[in-house]
Amino acid sequence: MQYEVVLPAAGSGKRMGAGQNKLFLKLLKKPILIHTLEVFQQDPFCTGIWLAVKPEERIYIQELLDEYRITKVKGLPDGGAERQHSVHSCMKEMQQVDIVLVHDAARPFITHDIIANLVQSAHDFGAAIAGVRAKDTMKKVRNGVIEETVDRDSLWMIQTPQAFRFDLIVEAEDVAEKVGFLGTDEAMLVERLGHTVHIVESSYENVKMTTQEDLLFGEAILRKRALQLNE
Ligand code: CTP
Ligand code: MG
Repeated sequence: MQYEVVLPAAGSGKRMGAGQNKLFLKLLKKPILIHTLEVFQQDPFCTGIWLAVKPEERIYIQELLDEYRITKVKGLPDGGAERQHSVHSCMKEMQQVDIVLVHDAARPFITHDIIANLVQSAHDFGAAIAGVRAKDTMKKVRNGVIEETVDRDSLWMIQTPQAFRFDLIVEAEDVAEKVGFLGTDEAMLVERLGHTVHIVESSYENVKMTTQEDLLFGEAILRKRALQLNE
C-alpha cells in the first residue's frame, strides 16, 4: 500500500554536541540523513518524501540529495522552532494522499517490514505508531524517592514512524495549532481528538541518533547488516 513520508530534519542536535546538525554526521562514511532517506528511496511503496529543513542548510541538503541520487523528495519546506512545527510545515505543502508517515530523520535503521505493518494498520484503523516493549523495571519517582513500581506489561517505548490517514493527521495538527498545544509526538495530537491509536511492534534497532554513544550502536548495526547481506 502506497504512502508519502514526512521527515523532520530541521533540528540542531544539541544533545549530540557535534557543533552542527547531527544528521550530517557520518555512519560508515555516509551521512545519517542519507541512510534514512535511502530506506524510503528504496521502498517501492513510498511515493513521495517531504523534508523539513533549516533554510541555511537547504542548499547543502540539496547537494546531498543529488550526490546520493535521492529522487523522491517532493518538497523541502522551512522547519520550525519545534519538531511539531517542522512536521506541520511539510503537511501544509502536501497534496491529499491516503496515508502519511511521520519519521524522525535521525532514525536511520527503520525497516521496510515495519513500515508496511504501520501503513496497513493506519489504513485499517486511522492511526498506528511504532514502539517496543519496555525492557527495564519502571518506577515512578518523585523528589528522589520511589512512588511506585509501574506495571511494565502495559508500558511501551514509542518511536517513529507514526502513520495516519491523511485527513486525520491534518485535523489533529490544525486543532493543535489553533489551541497552541505542543505534543512530543504526532500520536498525542490524534489522541487529543479522542481517536484510538494502534501500536505496531517495532525493533530495538530503530534507535534515534541522539547522543554520541548512539553513533557506536549505529555503526554496529550497519556492520551487522552488511555481514548478513554477505552471508
Ligand atoms: N527536528 C526538526 N525541527 C525541530 C527539532 C527537531 O525537524 N525544530 C527533527 C530533528 O532534525 C530530528 C527529529 O526532529 O530528525 C527528532 O528530533 P531530535 O532527535 O530531538 O533532534 P534535534 O532536535 O536535532 O536534537 P536535540 O534535541 O538534541 O537538539
Ligand atoms: Mg530535539
